[in-house]
Amino acid sequence: MKKIAVFASGSGSNFQAIVDAVKAGTLEADIRLLVCDQESAYVLQRAEKEKITSFCFSPKSFHDKAAFEQEIVKQLKSKDVEFIVLAGYMRLIGPTLLQEYPEAIVNIHPSLLPAFPGIDAIGQAFDAGVKVTGLSIHYVDAGMDTGPIIAQKEIEILENDTRDRLQERIQQAEHIVYPEVLQQLFMKEKSISSH
Ligand code: GAR
Repeated sequence: MKKIAVFASGSGSNFQAIVDAVKAGTLEADIRLLVCDQESAYVLQRAEKEKITSFCFSPKSFHDKAAFEQEIVKQLKSKDVEFIVLAGYMRLIGPTLLQEYPEAIVNIHPSLLPAFPGIDAIGQAFDAGVKVTGLSIHYVDAGMDTGPIIAQKEIEILENDTRDRLQERIQQAEHIVYPEVLQQLFMKEKSISSH
């Protein structure tokens, strides 16, 4: 079973969807660690309730990104983590983590990348007046929401939509699609490594 860590900064509804899929047996993964960079994030309470170990750090108490990522790598190695799943982790991944986990970090972003990268992708799409937006799951590289795209799902923006309603529909879709795509990825890797 793939040993994974989930990284999150906020509410953690995607973290919860991943946990639920593991519990339901539809995602074959072992969640070894939650990594969080916000001490007050609700995702920490979710992890506690699910009895998943979390590592929470305050970036400000480290000299620089390399220093806190070295600490993260130490934590990941101590738990034998093989693969990193970003789920609302609002920080760019630096070279320290990228070198340790080449092609083993994925992210979910609430837009059809390369459109609307960065903060508040849903608000950006809403304000731009596009008819269709969606979600993207992609491998992580050094850029902001860049890296090879693995899967995308389109979500229509309806005539009477509000930003909040759109966000609700995108997040509902994320909770279904992210665990499914992770399962497909892990199964593919398993069949490649057994040949
Ligand atoms: C999700 O919608 C995710 O796509 C987005 O943050 C939200 C986290 O929600 N990620 C990004 O914008 C990454 N650039 P959650 O904490 O409830 O899972």
